[in-house]
Amino acid sequence: MEKRAAELAVANRELAFQNEEKEKRAAELVIADQELLYQNKEKEKRAAELVIANQELLFQNEEKEKRAAELVVANQELLFQNEEKEKRAAELVVANQELLFQNKEKEKRAAELVVANQELLFQNKEKEKRAAELVVANQELLFQNEEKEKRAAELVVANQELLFQNEEKEKRAAELVVAHQETVRRLKNIQALQKIDQAIAGSLDLDLTLNVILEQVKTQLNVDAAAVLLLNQHTQIFEFKAGLGFRSKAIERSRLRLGEGYCGRAALERRTVSIPNLLENSSQFDRAQLLADEGFVTYFGAPLIAKGQVNGVLEIFHRLPPAPDENLLDFLLILAGQTAIAVDSASLFIELKRSNAQLFAAYDSTIEGWSHALDLRDKETEGHTLRVTEMALKLARAAGITEEELVHVRRGALLHDIGKMGVPDYILLKPGKLTDEEWVAMRQHPTFAFELLSPIAYLRSALDIPYCHHEKWDGSGYPRGLKGEQIPRTARLFAIIDVWDALLFDRPYRQGWSEERVREHIRSLTGTHFDPEAVALFFRAVHGKP
Ligand code: C2E
Ligand code: SIN
Ligand code: SIN
Ligand code: FE
Ligand code: FE
Repeated sequence: MEKRAAELAVANRELAFQNEEKEKRAAELVIADQELLYQNKEKEKRAAELVIANQELLFQNEEKEKRAAELVVANQELLFQNEEKEKRAAELVVANQELLFQNKEKEKRAAELVVANQELLFQNKEKEKRAAELVVANQELLFQNEEKEKRAAELVVANQELLFQNEEKEKRAAELVVAHQETVRRLKNIQALQKIDQAIAGSLDLDLTLNVILEQVKTQLNVDAAAVLLLNQHTQIFEFKAGLGFRSKAIERSRLRLGEGYCGRAALERRTVSIPNLLENSSQFDRAQLLADEGFVTYFGAPLIAKGQVNGVLEIFHRLPPAPDENLLDFLLILAGQTAIAVDSASLFIELKRSNAQLFAAYDSTIEGWSHALDLRDKETEGHTLRVTEMALKLARAAGITEEELVHVRRGALLHDIGKMGVPDYILLKPGKLTDEEWVAMRQHPTFAFELLSPIAYLRSALDIPYCHHEKWDGSGYPRGLKGEQIPRTARLFAIIDVWDALLFDRPYRQGWSEERVREHIRSLTGTHFDPEAVALFFRAVHGKP
């Protein structure tokens, strides 16, 4: 029992202690409760304040919504403005790049300028140095200037002198230019005269020479047309001979007597006639048609005088009045002189040719007379010479012998037996065969011909036939025994003709043969007596039958 009581006593004290604790806590709770009550009152106060504040906030919210709407509008405005700004910004970017590029350029330039600047600085320094030097030099120059002014004054004087001399020189230069032009003109004139001289010396054809002269007249005297009229010595009328630059043939009909028309007047008065305006004088111009057709305005006519004789007139025509030229008349006179010489020497030549022709004609009739006389010695051979001459020309032509040589063939044929003049009648006319002695004489006749004719220059080229017509192709002929082509060709041709005609006709020593027999005979001698080619040609060209 005592244990239980001790335990109870402990439990009791425990409980008493727990009570005290609970009372403490309750006291604390009362305090806490009071605290809470106080706090509640505070919270109610705050709630009331919050309601008020809430109302205030609601009001503020409405305000904010209004503003928000306004901000939306403002925002759209700003968005629009933003787009503008972006565009501008893009533009600015481009502009910026441009500026950047320009900046770089400017930087480059700046760098260059810096370099240039340094250069200039350097130069400036140099210039300053020089300036300093120049100052020194300037002082020197100032001094010299004074000297120079003195000299300048002297030079002004000298200059005036030179100006005066220059004027003199210019005058002289102008004179030299004129002199040069004159020289050039004279040179051209001389060249023209040389051409004319060459034409006169180089040609005996007057037409050709006059054409050269007129060509020079036309170009050197610068005329439109020029003509030469010559005096016909028999009729004493001036007739057209050559012309250049005419449009019609009217000039060619010019026929004027001495003293008639301007042409005749130039000839009669032996001086150049000049008519500056044909139109004013047209009634006097007989060749009115010429004037009308050609439209000539001025006329010059210069007489052609050689050896004191007027032999024609050189006429020149202009269609427009020529520029006044004092040299024209002088040169026209010179050209007229040349023309007169050309005309004179041509007429001399024509005269010479005429007298030569007369002389030759006289010779030829002499030759014909001789050969005829020869034929006449024996009536039976009459006509032989003329026949063989005719045939010889025919055969020679066929053989291609030139016309020039044919003259000699003709004379040679006519004279082929001229040497028989040295053969006595008793041999020549002997009716029978010749003795050996007689043959010696007979065979002399070609040599006689040679001796007779060779001293005559005119007949020297005609000797081949008389001297060689009895030579034979095989070398057995006479007088020299020539062989083949040693025998002159014309003589080879002629030998056939001579035998042909001799056999065809009667001779004192025998009767003429028939043509058939002669033909056969000649053919049989081909290659021995006669040149085979010549025989073939003879039968082809002279006696057609084969
Ligand atoms: P021609 O009478 O003019 O004869 C020229 C040539 O023709 C002769 O040159 C000869 O080649 C030829 N011929 C002429 N007749 C005959 C002929 O009967 N028979 C032949 N075979 N050929 C003939 P050739 O022989 O040199 O004689 C030269 C000239 O000598 C002859 O010229 C003639 O004048 C003269 N002649 C020649 N034979 C005789 C003849 O027998 N008697 C006379 N009297 N004269 C003669
Ligand atoms: C001329 O002088 O040639 C002819 C002039 C005339 O016919 O009047
Ligand atoms: C001849 O006409 O050529 C001379 C004449 C003759 O042969 O007798
Ligand atoms: Fe003969
Ligand atoms: Fe003969």
